[in-house]
Amino acid sequence: MTDLYRLARPVLFRLDPETAHNLAFWLGARACAWPVLRAPERSTALQRRVFGLDFPSPLGLAAGLDKGATLLPLWKALGFGHVEIGTVTPRPQPGNPKPRLFRFPEAGLILNRMGFNSEGADVVAARLRHRPAGLLVGGNLGKNKETPEARALDDYRDAYRLIAPEVDYIALNVSSPNTPGLRNLQAPEALKPLLAGMLDLRKAMGLEHQPILLKLAPDLAPEDLEAIVEVAVASGISGLIATNTTLDRGVVPEALRERVTAKGAGGLSGIPLKAKAREVRQRILAALRGRLPLVACGGLGGAEDVRGALDDGAALAQIYSALIFEGPGLVGRIHRGLVEPA
Ligand SMILES: Cc1cc2nc3c(=O)[nH]c(=O)nc-3n(C[C@H](O)[C@H](O)[C@H](O)COP(=O)(O)O)c2cc1C
Repeated sequence: MTDLYRLARPVLFRLDPETAHNLAFWLGARACAWPVLRAPERSTALQRRVFGLDFPSPLGLAAGLDKGATLLPLWKALGFGHVEIGTVTPRPQPGNPKPRLFRFPEAGLILNRMGFNSEGADVVAARLRHRPAGLLVGGNLGKNKETPEARALDDYRDAYRLIAPEVDYIALNVSSPNTPGLRNLQAPEALKPLLAGMLDLRKAMGLEHQPILLKLAPDLAPEDLEAIVEVAVASGISGLIATNTTLDRGVVPEALRERVTAKGAGGLSGIPLKAKAREVRQRILAALRGRLPLVACGGLGGAEDVRGALDDGAALAQIYSALIFEGPGLVGRIHRGLVEPA
């Protein structure tokens, strides 16, 4: 798989990023059909139990790469401990007009304003019914663009009804910068009824033991973070994921800032997000005082970063941008780096 990627990479990086994404998914689907595709050996030292689930490794694939759960066998074969599919919206929607995805390999940076392109929850749920065994799958849920903020709970509930029965955990995405108003749902007065409404539905569906997590933005002020943590702990959800992409152009290396700004709106991810995401996670961990587990995400580029996040107190870690730039061999490298002494 790593060799295949090494061959394909120069071609993929010369193409428009979304065309490259689609081609990589096409190649990935062909690779899934090979009988030789087998999950690599992973050290038992990587195993951990978090929110009642047994993770074979702390490393997962963050939401947004496999929005429709089309390549689960591939993620399993790459060795990920878990995959977060989505964001899935209840009804299908096309997302923002193209171009909406931009790569800056020299800085390990991605800018995206995909805007929840989603096939809709029923199509994705049907696909999940054929998910491979032995891979933990999270379902990341969002609202449709045209749904007013005041009706957001209805959308999360509609998506939940279809996706929750097919996955191991649910992540509520209230932190994408590309759906107008979505981040307002992080405000405590909006968050309280949202979380309460989701936990009521979970109980009504008899899924009390399935974890619900909340995914947060890196752009929250420290005092807001503390208030959000208290709402999350009091609500009874199972954990937090931090962080999503940032709107802060200040993280971009100066030499690149003009070019990035010229591409327009969107969230930034990858290496330039690293310091900011870590700082936000450390604040969240301090406020949590061990009351809920945290999944680290944002700017994790290799084993050292993942180890750093786990040493800070995160229970699990997720990557996205680094996988695009480094290729599938990164998963094994991170695993080896985690089991070998630093
Ligand atoms: C192209 C792209 C699409 C994304 N789509 C989603 C999404 O649909 N839902 C979500 O919760 N996060 C989404 N994310 C955010 C990632 O899950 C992750 O939080 C962020 O990229 C930071 O991690 P990274 O620096 O390792 O990429 C997306 C990121 C990228 C680059």
